[in-house]
Amino acid sequence: MKINRVKTKNYSILIGENSLSKLKSEVKSLCPKCRKIAIIFDRNIPNKFLVKIKKNLKKYKVFVFYIKSSEKVKNLNKISYFINKLLQLNFNRSDLVIGVGGGIVGDMSGFISSIYKRGINFINLPSTLLSQVDSCIGGKTGINSNYGKNLIGSFYNPKIVISETKFLKSLPKREIVCGYAEVLKHSIIKDKNFFNFLKKNTKKILSLENKTLTTSIKKSCQIKLNFTEKDFKEKNFRMILNFGHTFAHALEIQNKYSNRLNHGEAVLVGMIIATRISKYKKICSTNTLFQIEKIFQENLLLKSLKKYLNKNEILKSIKFMANDKKKDDEKINLIFLKKIGQTTLPGKHKFKISQIRDLINKLF
Ligand SMILES: NC(=O)c1ccc[n+]([C@@H]2O[C@H](COP(=O)([O-])OP(=O)(O)OC[C@H]3O[C@@H](n4cnc5c(N)ncnc54)[C@H](O)[C@@H]3O)[C@@H](O)[C@H]2O)c1
Repeated sequence: MKINRVKTKNYSILIGENSLSKLKSEVKSLCPKCRKIAIIFDRNIPNKFLVKIKKNLKKYKVFVFYIKSSEKVKNLNKISYFINKLLQLNFNRSDLVIGVGGGIVGDMSGFISSIYKRGINFINLPSTLLSQVDSCIGGKTGINSNYGKNLIGSFYNPKIVISETKFLKSLPKREIVCGYAEVLKHSIIKDKNFFNFLKKNTKKILSLENKTLTTSIKKSCQIKLNFTEKDFKEKNFRMILNFGHTFAHALEIQNKYSNRLNHGEAVLVGMIIATRISKYKKICSTNTLFQIEKIFQENLLLKSLKKYLNKNEILKSIKFMANDKKKDDEKINLIFLKKIGQTTLPGKHKFKISQIRDLINKLF
């Protein structure tokens, strides 16, 4: 099976079955002075992958740190714990941290790497669909605080990302849907052809058919890169990636980040709300909304989520939009859909919470 390579300005992303076999040669060429490697490994990944990774890194001193990932451990205490471990083991900048896990491990290990001795080599091995299509791209690292999600962080690029699709075989179906939500979002905001591809192939992606899956991961990375490379520090253009997310974040907070509604599910609901408002405000056509709702229906994407599209649920969550860190003044910056493949620009549609409440009251 061919391994795909997507090149960004600063690093490559390898995608596909057996891409992990490239780890040894990539470490050798990208980190030539490395002697020690710290692997931060998500406990839920089958151990056979760790065995394989270690086999590829025999010539280095390898230290493994297991992590039971959850939003609760994505905090400063845990970062401090890892940094102290690296200090005790006398890691220096030419050594290497490898994160093996989903977006949580990626965000944490990237953050550790960015602040340890002002920057140590970092390699990301994303192991969830969400992390392969979304969080491994764009250089954002970060952790949560008592004041909210991802409020502490940095922009820091890995030396390479290796998206081994075999990782996904042990991933719960719900997590696959969560990653698919971002794939679908990428098509909706940027690429009509890719959306048409998803119309035909979503079932294959959700059942992890390798060729379709690899094509979709690659396409998703390219679309996200198109935004992040033009606006690395999220000053403006990159906010288009936030389509559906302002509603999603509010619903997640309203549900106390509980397991009842995970991030990808909230994004699915958020995209429907944003598209319905787009249609109501005549920014997109009825047909655009119809096409999006159809792909949701055909793949049962809202099956267990209908209650979050209930007027009262949405209204209860709206007050939490004020916490959104992408907000630059008292108003909420919303991204709407013009047509499949094109959104409005950031800053074009800003609303007070009371105006959003009125819209939801009229629409739902
Ligand atoms: N940096 C960014 O640009 C960016 C973008 C989007 C999301 N994020 C962050 O990513 C996080 C969400 O990422 P996620 O959805 O990957 O969640 P996650 O890291 O919590 O992984 C989801 C679940 O899958 C398990 N898991 C991971 N790999 C597995 C495998 N191969 N087999 C079986 N189980 C496995 C994990 O233990 C966890 O229970 C959030 O914290 C979010 O803030 C960051």
